[in-house]
Amino acid sequence: MIVKHLTRRQILGPIGIAAGSCVLSSCLSESASSPLDKKPGFPWPYDKLDPQITAERAYNDHRKGHCMYGAFVSVISQLAERYGEPYSSFPVGMMRYGAGGAAGSGSLCGALNGSAALIGLFVKKEEDMKLLIDELFLWYEQTELPTYIPERPALDAKIPTSVSNSILCHISVTKWCKMSGNKTFSKQQKERCARLSADTAAKTVELLNAHFAGEFSAAHEFDDEVKTCRSCHTKGSDRSDSRGKMHCRICHSSLAVDHP
Ligand code: HEC
Ligand code: HEC
Repeated sequence: MIVKHLTRRQILGPIGIAAGSCVLSSCLSESASSPLDKKPGFPWPYDKLDPQITAERAYNDHRKGHCMYGAFVSVISQLAERYGEPYSSFPVGMMRYGAGGAAGSGSLCGALNGSAALIGLFVKKEEDMKLLIDELFLWYEQTELPTYIPERPALDAKIPTSVSNSILCHISVTKWCKMSGNKTFSKQQKERCARLSADTAAKTVELLNAHFAGEFSAAHEFDDEVKTCRSCHTKGSDRSDSRGKMHCRICHSSLAVDHP
């Protein structure tokens, strides 16, 4: 389902143009349900992209707006160059919020957040969207990163790799700093995160290319331990007192001695 040549009309559809022309206040007063719920033209069409070119762009865009911005803009900018609207109107500046795990909070890695947003934008079925995001997050948790070597590096140095075991910015960054002997907020850490954003954007494009070619299959699996913990603690289990798919032991390193 790869889209070749799209016009603005094909993307937005006739109703999209009508809806786009109404003033926000009058749209809101028309019905109780949000007009956004029915907006046609979702998901936006995706077109096959080159992972290597995407990586280089994410690396360079990282400098303009950090990790989430870099990962997101690397993809949307290529589609904007090919097709113009609606891609060229996306308010990409909003993606700066994701830096440092959302405004520096250290929660979800911004490169993952921007990439998951892309998957959410292009993939129609919720089930498929979740499968792709699961695969991206597991790849990130389990892979030695970063591996991307920029053509024109901002910092021309060998950047060590580490396995984060976590999708959280705080854990991912601090583990890398501890392992490599660098400080957070150093030039080295910034370079590491720029390269990691490049890797993540390239992976996302690989997954989207595979999905739209009907060739996606998951290459990473949840840890057995996560499956075991979830069997007693998550939705539908005996205790149903937690939710999530992250590595449990990274935070729950010690459990009560009498824990089952
Ligand atoms: C066989 C079912 C079972 C499995 C598997 C299981 N738990 Fe539990 N867990 C329990 C029960 C039952 C309690 C409540 C124990 C109590 O109240 O004394 C509990 C309590 C806890 C608690 C709160 C008390 C404490 O020990 O800190 C945490 C946290 C926890 N589990 C995390 C985990 C993690 C992480 C895993 C996987 C490594 C896991 N559990 C696997 C059944 C299970
Ligand atoms: C990023 C850190 C982190 C991760 C990853 C994590 N947890 Fe937790 N979990 C916490 C914190 C913090 C609490 C709250 C502890 C408290 O209030 O005592 C908690 C609470 C819990 C509780 C309730 C404990 C109680 O005292 O009743 C359970 C059960 C639990 N987690 C299971 C899991 C399981 C299962 C996983 C993996 C799928 C997991 N957690 C992953 C940090 C984490």
